Amino acid sequence: MTEQNSTQPPSNQDRVFIFDTTLRDGEQCPGASMTFEEKLEVADVLDALGVDIMEAGFPIASQGDFDSVAEIARRVKNASVCGLSRASVKDVDRCAEAVRHARVPRIHTFISTSPVHMKYKLQMEPEKVLELIASSVTRARNHVEFVEWSAEDGTRTEHDFLCRAVETAIDAGATTINIPDTVGYTTPDEYRALFEMVRSRVPNADKAIFSVHCHNDLGLAVANSIAGVKGGARQIECTINGIGERAGNAALEEIVMAMRTRADTLPYVNNIDTKLLTRASKLVSAVTSFPVQYNKAIVGRNAFAHESGIHQDGMLKNAHTYEIMTPESVGVQKTSLVMGKHSGRHAFREKLKELGYDLGENGLEIAFTRFKDLADRKKIVYDEDIVALVDDEIANAHERIKVVELTVVAGTKGPQKAALTLDVDGELKTHQATGNGPVDAIFNAIHALTPHDARLELYQVHAVTEGTDAQAEVTVRLSEDGNVVSGRGADPDTLVASARAYVSALNKIFAKRGRGPLEAVASL
Ligand code: KIV
Ligand code: ZN
Repeated sequence: MTEQNSTQPPSNQDRVFIFDTTLRDGEQCPGASMTFEEKLEVADVLDALGVDIMEAGFPIASQGDFDSVAEIARRVKNASVCGLSRASVKDVDRCAEAVRHARVPRIHTFISTSPVHMKYKLQMEPEKVLELIASSVTRARNHVEFVEWSAEDGTRTEHDFLCRAVETAIDAGATTINIPDTVGYTTPDEYRALFEMVRSRVPNADKAIFSVHCHNDLGLAVANSIAGVKGGARQIECTINGIGERAGNAALEEIVMAMRTRADTLPYVNNIDTKLLTRASKLVSAVTSFPVQYNKAIVGRNAFAHESGIHQDGMLKNAHTYEIMTPESVGVQKTSLVMGKHSGRHAFREKLKELGYDLGENGLEIAFTRFKDLADRKKIVYDEDIVALVDDEIANAHERIKVVELTVVAGTKGPQKAALTLDVDGELKTHQATGNGPVDAIFNAIHALTPHDARLELYQVHAVTEGTDAQAEVTVRLSEDGNVVSGRGADPDTLVASARAYVSALNKIFAKRGRGPLEAVASL
């Protein structure tokens, strides 16, 4: 069996393998955590998208991480499923256990190789690091056929030592060698030269596939990744929407569309079905509650919008004047169905298909009921309204706490009051609270019903469309014991959207804690 679900033989030098790490490096960034069910949904979309390898998590990090990696390994049909592991026996064995049911399992083990990391983080001599590379890769190879080894902080590693480390890993059986730009420090020319140097100096370099892994601290992650490929790497590690530690990782959609649009200068092929890029972007944004910036390349809401008169005039005469790729090629459909209060179930189903959603019968029914309610309250229902509503439904579908009813008294005379009913694990609980403003009153009521120590870090509102009857989309970020989570809620009533967003974030906090605390809440 070959590892990659390649349409081309591995010997073809121009095939570039797409290694998605949305569920590991992406999920690792503060506030982007996903629930078990959300991870499975993302894994399904990544598999349909055609990624070659999916890094599903870091199995030793927690029982939750282990369970999601194991379940993803069982259900993914096409991609190779990979887990991350440090260079220790315990890590490698735990990782092997999690990925073992995958069609093509991979263990990804790493250790730092730069002077600053070895001295201060690992507090290890370079010779000890080489020993651990050999032992961890050997142990991983005893479990699985495909083993990736990464030189953490590779771009700040001394060249001689990097070559020795890479040679050691390949000798021990590594099939992929990743040289990450862990701190987003390198530049395109330098990164390309690094791969050329390692590939020419390491005697057994031809026995492994080289991989790029770039962080975006200087905004160079995509450019650096492509430069690394020009230097001979044939695997790219990236995430949907570029989510990841700090400024994020290289964005999968940007890399793939750059290669497709500029195939004249980037003659590399991959297996990605680009028509699913928009769908993948929306799902990841919905489940992480990380908004996609409006002007984000490929998947931003303005990526294909032509506002200025000159541009619109050119586009009407010939789309090639200002369009280097079509919206359809990334899954953005030209709107055909206009939705309103007379639209029926069939039209709604077609509209969802047009927008790239497949909710299943149950999900469709729930979303349709919410759409009808919205259409009764709003003159025009735009595509953006439906996207906000469906994303809200996806993000909140598996929640144990739900907003059932909310009444708020607001205005110039305080204190403002909120009467809130929550469904907590199937039991209705009501509380009335006051606050310094209606949002504060609502959050106080939620707090009384679900005692917790989470701190509110961000409260953000934006209007989904124009007009005073526009839906509000609220993002709330909470932190507790080092866990940072985000929740999102949408509703024409800003205060209802606020309650939904807070509760959505809270559900993630409780999911991280396990069942205990929520049972305490239910018995209030
Ligand atoms: O950025 C990095 O160095 C990583 C490694 C674990 C591959 O994510
Ligand atoms: Zn990384």
